[in-house]
Amino acid sequence: MTKKIYIFDTTLRDGEQTPGVSLNIHEKLEIAKQLQILGVDIIEAGFPFASKGDFEAVKAIAKNIKGSIITGLARTSKQDIDTAWEALKYAENPRIHTFIATSDIHMQHKLNMKPEEVLERAGSMVKYAKSFCPNVEFSPEDGTRTRPEFLYRVLEAVIEAGADVVNIPDTVGYTTPGEYGAFIKGIRENVPNIHKAVISVHCHNDLGLAVANSLAAIENGAQQIECAVNGLGERAGNAALEEIVMSIKTRSNYFKCHTDIVTEHLTKTSNLVSHLTGVQIQNNKAIVGSNAFAHESGIHQHGVLNCRETYEIMTPESVGLKKNLIVLGKHSGRHAFEQRLKEIGYDNLDSVKVNDAFLKFKDLADKKKSISDEDIEALIKQEVFQVPENYKLEHFQVSSGNNMVATSTVKIRYDGNSIDEASCGDGPVDATFKAIEKAVGVNVKLKDYFLKAIGSGKDALGEVTVKIEKDNKIFSASGVSTDVVEASAKAFINAINKMHYYLFQEENSASCIDKVIVEV
Ligand code: KIV
Ligand code: ZN
Repeated sequence: MTKKIYIFDTTLRDGEQTPGVSLNIHEKLEIAKQLQILGVDIIEAGFPFASKGDFEAVKAIAKNIKGSIITGLARTSKQDIDTAWEALKYAENPRIHTFIATSDIHMQHKLNMKPEEVLERAGSMVKYAKSFCPNVEFSPEDGTRTRPEFLYRVLEAVIEAGADVVNIPDTVGYTTPGEYGAFIKGIRENVPNIHKAVISVHCHNDLGLAVANSLAAIENGAQQIECAVNGLGERAGNAALEEIVMSIKTRSNYFKCHTDIVTEHLTKTSNLVSHLTGVQIQNNKAIVGSNAFAHESGIHQHGVLNCRETYEIMTPESVGLKKNLIVLGKHSGRHAFEQRLKEIGYDNLDSVKVNDAFLKFKDLADKKKSISDEDIEALIKQEVFQVPENYKLEHFQVSSGNNMVATSTVKIRYDGNSIDEASCGDGPVDATFKAIEKAVGVNVKLKDYFLKAIGSGKDALGEVTVKIEKDNKIFSASGVSTDVVEASAKAFINAINKMHYYLFQEENSASCIDKVIVEV
């Protein structure tokens, strides 16, 4: 068995320090339950002395959550530690997490204390915490900017006083992976009693290096990682739990360690935290972003459909997604298009129809960012129920407004020729219909016109269905486009083509369209 890395989640403490985030006790309990299901080893439930609300939340979590260690933060003061213990004492496995800053800049400008005073305070308060709680963690705040020799002395003193875990925070997210790895190694080599404590790391993401720094620490002997779901935390946040866990899992051969996180619960946990904190997850966020398992380019889609591993290093199922997402858009190829057709039930279309539908899909993808299953169905319906396109809309242009008469110009292709016509009308659709009638040389009776949106969003497709009548026969057809006038024109021409086709078949006359009685 490989070495276990303990996952210490601080979503409810450092994560709640995310600007603009405030969770109530019910929300905190909800998240804590989910963290326990996720298999988090240590849940930092809050900072009990910070507020009454935090105190109550830590107490409620301590009382209700079993399995994980429950910890609460406390400064190295008796009042803080007493309050933390008051909230934590109900836990099955409580831990007090106490901290004091050890960098020169913090000691001088924030604490106004001499290094020797800080050293003494750290040791004595760990001892005090230990007198209540069997499990104590100590953090030298701003650890990475602390003079190493002083840090070694502080760590030796707190371990001597009973600290079970020493956590080395990169409070301001300043370090880099190589430097931090060497820093942890230095601690292992220079703190004489370090073998009596677990080394933990806590990295902030100011330079976007929190996860990389944490992983470098693992390579140098750290055994506990402090992190937060979705990378929440002060300023740029903490190391993202899901990224740490999936890095360790995906590259277990490299890191030679494991965690006990049930990774299949990562997506659900991330969504819950995002929902309750109101902090949206960016689409391209690693592991839990909506694009993390989505493929758009044709080359990638083809690869993934043939062999998933070509472009996926983790399975979507391993993080709790049902499957990856083949996003149909303008970069998608025929392979992905056909695959989607099969998935939505069109698996026996002839290749000509698939080809035509694919060309229309490409046209649509130029206008619309991503193509939904409903869009594809609408395109296919048009192909399957399409009669020969004798008349084809090549181009149209409308001008309309609230203080002007709508006019429309159309170019229709028929029998190798283009016919241009223009007309005014009662609105852009009416003007376009009249221009089409002129171009085709018919007047038809419009019996019905129906417009509906397919899908949602402002770039949703509009589907227009029209019914025209001739000789007591009704011809109905539809057209789709992101532009409703274009959808209307397409529907109208499709209906005329249908009329042409059926009358031609019935009367066996190629010119029947010219004989259609004007019924407007
Ligand atoms: O970033 C930090 O230094 C902390 C400590 C209190 C652990 O959050
Ligand atoms: Zn922090």
